[in-house]
Amino acid sequence: MYRTPRSEPLTQPRTTRSDAPAHAPDRTPCLAPNRANEELQSIVLSGLLHKPKRLPCKLLYDERGSELFEKICEQPEYYLTRTELQIMQTFSSEMASALGPDIMLMEYGSGSSLKTRLLLNALEHPAVYVPVDISSSALSASVASLRCEFPDLTVNPLCADFTQPFGALPCALRKPAHALTQPDHARRTVVYFPGSTIGNFAATEAVRLLRQIRLQMGSTGGALIGFDLKKAFGLIERAYNDEAGYTAAFTLNLLQRLNRELCADFDLSNFQHSAKYRHDPGCIETHIISQRDQHVAIAGESVHFESGEEMLVEISCKYSMQDFAELAAAAGLRMDAYWTDPQNRFCVQYLVNSP
Ligand code: AVJ
Repeated sequence: MYRTPRSEPLTQPRTTRSDAPAHAPDRTPCLAPNRANEELQSIVLSGLLHKPKRLPCKLLYDERGSELFEKICEQPEYYLTRTELQIMQTFSSEMASALGPDIMLMEYGSGSSLKTRLLLNALEHPAVYVPVDISSSALSASVASLRCEFPDLTVNPLCADFTQPFGALPCALRKPAHALTQPDHARRTVVYFPGSTIGNFAATEAVRLLRQIRLQMGSTGGALIGFDLKKAFGLIERAYNDEAGYTAAFTLNLLQRLNRELCADFDLSNFQHSAKYRHDPGCIETHIISQRDQHVAIAGESVHFESGEEMLVEISCKYSMQDFAELAAAAGLRMDAYWTDPQNRFCVQYLVNSP
């Protein structure tokens, strides 16, 4: 990523980043104002003015955040990724026959596209794969390796926030709207939404997102969605409080990101990660807790945090089969097939339009 120095002494010779010795102090921690950053600033300021304070979880996924999330997935406590992978490994050919041949596969929040490989391998000559991710770095890395592994597959990446009706982010991978329409040689569009990312949305928002998916897939398409099932809450809480501390680092990286991109001065040692299960409606709530009474400078404002004040940064909902059926029905979808692991920890469902 190219960073515009905010202020650089004019007397200093301009050097490119690669010329700079590794130990050189980072003189450019802040980005100059630009469109992306103005948008970030308005999202952040409105979240900090909200009572209680909250920030949208999509902000967790900058380059560092996406790396930390990959580390979370490897932690023994975080059963979600492993379990979903196991389901994909076991049932990918069943899934492929449910989805059918020659499809346009569109993936929301593709990240490293690990699970997708299993699906792509099983699918009968998929027509095109459209990974959609908010992190341009995660997207370009996964697209490069997918193109190597699947030389015959058309890969059409889209750097976008899938929570918005495809407002593409300003980045190199931006695509015109026609990239989103199903090519002639594809028989149907299937939206793949794995990882229990749907769980990051409260019910109303989740239904809105499922409706958007339904529009995207059209009347003959489908949606393959992975979600986390309700279970003993101790197991769930441990998944969001790993021993090694990657989840805490992932959460607090959000503040570091604001320091970098909005010239904020969060002192990370004054904040703590907290993830607790809330039984009704059944979700992990992740908060950043202020450890003392303090003021933080951010985008020219001074924001006050009380000691013990909690700022909500993520929810991760867990569903019973019934919960999910209700969500789908509210969006005009119904379950066509489902797959789970032997311990019923996680579920992958194929949804189609309800008649
Ligand atoms: C990728 C959004 C599904 O909610 O479980 C993992 C993100 N946050 N640990 C989840 C996450 C903390 C994860 N999702």
